[in-house]
Amino acid sequence: MSGADGRDLVGLIAESGDRAYGESVTQLAHALQCAALARRDRADDEVVVAALLHDVGHFVEHGPEEPGHHHGTDGAELVRAFVPPRVAWLIEHHVVAKRYLCTVDARYVDELSPASRRSYQVQGARLEPDERLALETRPWFADAVRVRRWDDAAKVPGVGCPPLIEYAPLLERYFGPQRWPVASGIDR
Ligand SMILES: [Fe+2]
Repeated sequence: MSGADGRDLVGLIAESGDRAYGESVTQLAHALQCAALARRDRADDEVVVAALLHDVGHFVEHGPEEPGHHHGTDGAELVRAFVPPRVAWLIEHHVVAKRYLCTVDARYVDELSPASRRSYQVQGARLEPDERLALETRPWFADAVRVRRWDDAAKVPGVGCPPLIEYAPLLERYFGPQRWPVASGIDR
């Protein structure tokens, strides 16, 4: 992982958020849609911030996606010192939650976006029964599945949703005062 630092989280998002990542929306639009869906469903603040930041690992340099090391693990590492353990766990486990849903529901694989289906294969594809049980018995398992479902729904071009600045109180509660550079999607 690069030397990116959670203390300048908003700067990192502003710098990298307009990147495409094989989906039909930018990284930032995807993050904002995901957080807006979490808020719509009355998720608590920890789950909302996990939804907002679940792909933050894509903003730092990382190697190829593998079952044990992927953008979820990199994202969790970036934020771990700043957020409650539940938030870091959800960011880390949104990848295995996709593998879980694909394992228990064959139709779910067909509903994934093409990019997500490709990454599913390199992230390890179906879970073994012991891996599935290990996930199902974790205390934040249901939250991970919720984040995953919002993640999959948050790829709709042109959907309007609150900008990043709307999450300033939430982000600064965890990450401290942030720079808020004027950039598309950050403040409007
Ligand atoms: Fe995502």
